Amino acid sequence: MTTPSVRLLAYARPMRGRLALAALAGAGTTLAGIALLGTSGFLLARAAEHPSVTALTVAVVAVRALGIGRGVLRYAERLVSHDAAFRVLGDLRVRVYRRLERLAPAGLGRFRSGDLLARLVSDVDATQDLFLRGVLPPVAAALAGGATVAACAFLLAPAAGVLAVGLLVAGVVVPWTTAVLARRAAHRASAARGTLSARTVDVFTGVADLTAFGAQDRALAALDAAEADLAAHTRRNAFAQAVGAGLAVLTSGATVWGVLVLGVAAVEDGTLGRVPLAALALTALAAFEAVAPLPAAAARLAETAAAARRITGVLDTPEPVREPVLPLPAPERPVTLRLRGMSARYAADGPWAIRDLDLDLTPGRRVALVGASGAGKSTVAAVLLRFLDAERGSVTLNGRDLADYASDDVRAVVGGCPQDPHVFDSTVRENLRLAHPTATDDDLRRAAADARLLPWIESLPQGWDTPVGAHGARMSGGERQRLALARALLADPAVLVLDEPTAHLDPAARTALTADLLRATRDRTVLLITHDLTGLDQVDEIVVLDRGRVVQHGPHDALDRHDGPYLHLTR
Ligand SMILES: Nc1ncnc2c1ncn2[C@@H]1O[C@H](COP(=O)(O)OP(=O)(O)OP(=O)(O)O)[C@@H](O)[C@H]1O
Ligand SMILES: [Mg+2]
Repeated sequence: MTTPSVRLLAYARPMRGRLALAALAGAGTTLAGIALLGTSGFLLARAAEHPSVTALTVAVVAVRALGIGRGVLRYAERLVSHDAAFRVLGDLRVRVYRRLERLAPAGLGRFRSGDLLARLVSDVDATQDLFLRGVLPPVAAALAGGATVAACAFLLAPAAGVLAVGLLVAGVVVPWTTAVLARRAAHRASAARGTLSARTVDVFTGVADLTAFGAQDRALAALDAAEADLAAHTRRNAFAQAVGAGLAVLTSGATVWGVLVLGVAAVEDGTLGRVPLAALALTALAAFEAVAPLPAAAARLAETAAAARRITGVLDTPEPVREPVLPLPAPERPVTLRLRGMSARYAADGPWAIRDLDLDLTPGRRVALVGASGAGKSTVAAVLLRFLDAERGSVTLNGRDLADYASDDVRAVVGGCPQDPHVFDSTVRENLRLAHPTATDDDLRRAAADARLLPWIESLPQGWDTPVGAHGARMSGGERQRLALARALLADPAVLVLDEPTAHLDPAARTALTADLLRATRDRTVLLITHDLTGLDQVDEIVVLDRGRVVQHGPHDALDRHDGPYLHLTR
């Protein structure tokens, strides 16, 4: 068992009482089965000697009790073990989900979306087998096997020794061999399952692009290849399990044969009766029922180890932002944000996305952030919204370190629209109301009017109740952008961060929307990230970024007079 599995087992600590009970019930079930066969052997052999019926009464009652008890114990074991496993599973799923929530959006770059889905769903599901098939059967087998060997030792010690060796081979050596054979296949199958889900999700979400470029056949072929890969690894895993099952049968046959040879010799010596011999032989045969599930358990352990590794991979991904243990009280309006020498990047050893940035967002001040693609503009927005922590320098909100506030409290006062806004598969109204669930229809109309979305909404036959389709498929790019802007205006944060609000618009609409935007935000604190330089004479300061550094800043008039980067952007 590898460390990730042990870690997942540690999460089950609160359930240890139930798990111990399940192991005891499992051992009881197996012991009842073994005793049933042993007693039956005794009963048959004794009956052949034609004793009086009273001599058989105890054995007859025992057979009945064991037969019924076995079923009851099995039911109890299933009930308790599944209950415990599902409780652990639920807890684990919540842990993974919470982690994903903390990682999103800046920390998820290393995962593929379909693969994440596989980790959250199938890998977490697979860990139930860690308990149900990986941990409980060996514990139950050890208890039941030990008790059986001890009982046999009363009848014939050497035979008990042979049985002990046989059980160890079938319970330890065979499962270990199976695990070695299965480990690589299991690890690869788990990875292949992730790849298959990632490719499937990719094909579905990218179907328009794939069809447009005539690439759908290639994409489907890649999907087939991923599927074949998964099937091959699964088959190899099944082969390992089949080998394990065969070896287990071989071992049990050889052991029973050894017990019989010793038993028959003992009967000839007169040290063992013929009736106990029958009980002994059948008990030895039945004892292998205890270890029968172990090769499969070992293979499942190998598989769940792979799943556990992928789960701990998510749990161990460093958080892009650290939540304070004791957050400051939620900030009050008005809000002032100050950045001094701020540097940030997406990976600890990666290139800087933004370096040494100074920025002041005092109440009512509007700042424009401009620069070429990749200059670091959206990264600044991510830092202000606490999706990403600054690594150097300081970022303060009302004089206190931004990192000392709970990130949700920060996002309650700093908000806006992201560069790639998401439109939900719902109506126009619901998509807007998302930003402000208690907004009145008048509020919605005002925000839509400010974002120049109202004429479009009113032109629709279903108006505000028009469904927009998945990802806003029934809207144009510009309409989606304006919807996101209306959402930001409706939320009315103290500091409005707008990342490229006029993207996807034609030049005339862009100029018009920028003018409206600047009018609608006259008294607000705004960070306007834009490629569009018209109307920037109305903002208080323009910051020009180039490859993560500030290369020029000041009001439009000052920048416009010097031959510098700003003028070259304009040209
Ligand atoms: N999630 C991420 N993980 C790793 N690197 C990223 C991530 N997002 C952005 N980067 C990198 O950080 C740098 C700055 O990106 P950023 O998105 O801030 O640029 P931008 O100025 O907003 O560009 P654009 O005008 O194209 O939107 C780029 O080099 C980019 O490759
Ligand atoms: Mg950007």
